[in-house]
Amino acid sequence: MKKQVNLLLLATVLFTAACNSNKTNEVSGMKFTITEKSFGVLGSDAITQYTITNPSGMQVSILNYGGTVTNILTPDKNNQMGDVVLGFDSLSGYLQKGNPYFGCLVGRYGNRIGKGQFTIDGKQYQLTLNDHGNTLHGGLRGLDKVVWKAAKEMGDSSIRLTYTSPDGDQGFPGNLSVQVTYTLTSANELQIHYKATTDKTTPVNLTNHCYFNLSGGNDSTILAQEVMIAADKFTEVDSLLIPTGKLPDVKGTPMDFTSAKAIGKDIAAVKGGYDHNWVLNRKGNDLEKIASAYDKTSGRLMEVFTTEPGLQFYTGNFLDGTLHGKNGKTYVQHAAFCMETQHFPDGPNQPSFPNTLLKPGETYESKTVYRFSVK
Ligand code: GLA
Repeated sequence: MKKQVNLLLLATVLFTAACNSNKTNEVSGMKFTITEKSFGVLGSDAITQYTITNPSGMQVSILNYGGTVTNILTPDKNNQMGDVVLGFDSLSGYLQKGNPYFGCLVGRYGNRIGKGQFTIDGKQYQLTLNDHGNTLHGGLRGLDKVVWKAAKEMGDSSIRLTYTSPDGDQGFPGNLSVQVTYTLTSANELQIHYKATTDKTTPVNLTNHCYFNLSGGNDSTILAQEVMIAADKFTEVDSLLIPTGKLPDVKGTPMDFTSAKAIGKDIAAVKGGYDHNWVLNRKGNDLEKIASAYDKTSGRLMEVFTTEPGLQFYTGNFLDGTLHGKNGKTYVQHAAFCMETQHFPDGPNQPSFPNTLLKPGETYESKTVYRFSVK
């Protein structure tokens, strides 16, 4: 009897191992896995949550709704896992009107376009308006509010999302085919690789809107967390956060993050809190480290690398304790910060800013990496 049980056990182990080896990518004996879980239904679309786990146990969960990152589990200095992003437990949370872009992909144009207008080759375009007479994050129904096609990539460490935004969507010209690949690496990095092509000249500025709190749920605000941003200048904005075109120096101002400092150190001197685009000091067009954030208590360090020229550093100024997030948590003002790598706001109307127009035949490409470690 015992022998039979043992044989059965052996067969089960061998069978499971055989199944797993088809589905996983081995890195020094450890494995990457991707699991899928139903996260509800939207119209005729099934919403799925994909969870990528790397060999050391770090996890990233992503929805095909809005390409939303719902969870990032990373270890603290005592090897305790904690979720470092804000979000909701259910699809209805993400669908609610007050969802402030938690974790989603943002497009077609991340950040603001003044009056939702721009002119290309003498033709004026009008976008849908959703922010005090301006267009924010792609308009009323941006890429954060659509269902993407999702596919697991070979090796079980990436999810590839694709979506085609039709000509005229939110007022933007051209059919825009977008592909975003989220990859979790064995070095505890979340890499985001954006690509897009169009059949008419159109502005494109894609980003991700994760709200980070490196305490992993322990601290209600991020004011004590220390941030560095490698930028000597920022884009000055008017009262509606539309750039004036001026690029003031950060030196000697509350905007100076060239050396790491607590987010809360000078925040009171910035009306409403930080919600600005920093002009990154860059050497070239490759991935470069441009920012970091550190939580002394948990020891978690996040380093940000990007190919983009700008970083919107936003300190959750509009969170006001009314949203009920994961595990029933309420999110107060400054409960998290966002580091949105991007081209500058209102690029299509600011000739001196880096170009944001994508032409037929060209490929838009952008990469950002969030690397997690402890110190
Ligand atoms: C961006 C904007 C902010 C705010 C948030 C979403 O970071 O710059 O002003 O709109 O998105 O609430």
